[in-house]
Amino acid sequence: MTRKLYIETVGCQMNMLDSELVVADLRRNGYELVDAPAAADLVLFNTCSVRAHAEEKIYSALGRLKNAKKRNPEKIIGVIGCMAQNHQKTVFTRAPYVDLVVGPGQLHQIPQLVRDIAAGGGQKLEVSLDRTGGARSDVERSFESYDPLRDEAMRPSRYQAFVRIMIGCDKFCTYCIVPKVRGPEQSRPPEQIVAEARKLADEGCREITLLGQTVNSYKYKDGDRTTRLSDLLHQLSEIDGIARLKFVTSFPNDMTQDLLDAVRDVKKCSHYLHVPCQSGSNEQLKRMKRNYTVESYREMLQRIRTTIPDAAVTSDFIVGFCGETEEDFQKTVALVEESRFKNSFIFKYSPREGTKADELYADDVPDDVKRRRNNELLAVQNRISYEDNQAFLGRVVEILVEGPSERARRQEDHAHGDDQPEAGGEQSHDHVHGPLQLVGRTNCDRIVVFDGNPRQIGQILPVTVYDANSFTLFGEVVTEHVGPQMVSLSL
Ligand code: SAH
Ligand code: SF4
Ligand code: F3S
Repeated sequence: MTRKLYIETVGCQMNMLDSELVVADLRRNGYELVDAPAAADLVLFNTCSVRAHAEEKIYSALGRLKNAKKRNPEKIIGVIGCMAQNHQKTVFTRAPYVDLVVGPGQLHQIPQLVRDIAAGGGQKLEVSLDRTGGARSDVERSFESYDPLRDEAMRPSRYQAFVRIMIGCDKFCTYCIVPKVRGPEQSRPPEQIVAEARKLADEGCREITLLGQTVNSYKYKDGDRTTRLSDLLHQLSEIDGIARLKFVTSFPNDMTQDLLDAVRDVKKCSHYLHVPCQSGSNEQLKRMKRNYTVESYREMLQRIRTTIPDAAVTSDFIVGFCGETEEDFQKTVALVEESRFKNSFIFKYSPREGTKADELYADDVPDDVKRRRNNELLAVQNRISYEDNQAFLGRVVEILVEGPSERARRQEDHAHGDDQPEAGGEQSHDHVHGPLQLVGRTNCDRIVVFDGNPRQIGQILPVTVYDANSFTLFGEVVTEHVGPQMVSLSL
């Protein structure tokens, strides 16, 4: 008998990939996806703990299921991912009708745990060891890599896929919960990564984004051979069918020259680097334990610009971190002004229990000040993004077409009614003919919207840019006919 699964995913790309793998696993165990919790036998929330807000939203969503569970006690409700590892039993205390709590290192157990619950086995909790819960090798083993299972329908599109090259994080930035919930940093063997990418290419995937919390710290030792991210990029670029390679997120100190050279030399590599800076003040960087200074970050940016002049660099910033003065903040504004990031993700500091910052420093910047700084920094970044995007007007850019734009997707949902189950990713658009607003990305990761045809999805196309705002370029496909002017010129 097929059972119905509903899954909701928040957080970073790691979580999107984990959801893809969980869905693949459960499909193999007789489940099919539905797009509303009401219709589901199993409801899963794949959660994030990076800020308090992300956790509170999950508890609210769980609250909305309380009555449904009362009416139908057979419905299984699960909390998986980072908040499961972070809160463990507390999830059951706050939401006693939850059946299942599974951390990111134990996702492979879900099908069996769900069977046990359905058979009357009661609530189940499976998490990995705490970072101090044993010898390093035991803690490492308790976070299992869960990568070979894939489900095409759960990808961003059938032409794009994430491939995890490492799990965990050992940087322990003082504000950050990730090392606690994702466990020790462990790089995957290159052979596994290449085999996975090859399989994806055989399935028609054109773009691969390599994932790691500090993806450029990737290092795999096998005897006296060490594989670095730069080596991996060279190896992956040999796979036929793969047209583009990206990687996120990079740590500033690990942006080595061999890696920048590889990004420049490997033709398939996107000229796009996400290298979060977090603050423009040395005092703040020290408190955050980022292990670099504003000067060394600036020097790294300079090396990127010298090696790959057209690289698009993006960053993250935290505003209102413990002890941040107006002067500290203005240093961040100045850094954003001079660095000309393609865009920046800006977050208000959110204290996380179990982190060093929460233990050592007071969360002493009032929320209204955090909000004001967030808006101010965002306005500066948006102005820069706008200005830099104007430089694309009239230029021809090559884009990988990802699928219908959000506007087109909304119109389609509306035409189909919202309660229709998703019919298998982008393939569901194959029946659509005629012009459709499509979206793609340039080699430097800029979003381009244009009117196209569904059969162009998955292709790499030249597009002329005729308009731009801070976030999007608007273009039209370059057609190949020779216009009258060209003819007269060539005569
Ligand atoms: N591994 C990546 C990012 C992980 S989390 C890196 O090292 O850059 C993504 C972003 O969330 C971080 O870059 C940081 O800007 C933000 N973040 C992390 N912890 C936070 C907290 N406690 N409060 C607010 N923002 C936070
Ligand atoms: Fe968190 Fe720092 Fe690790 Fe990034 S590098 S995941 S910010 S601890
Ligand atoms: Fe959130 Fe976990 Fe990613 S805490 S940012 S989903 S690694």
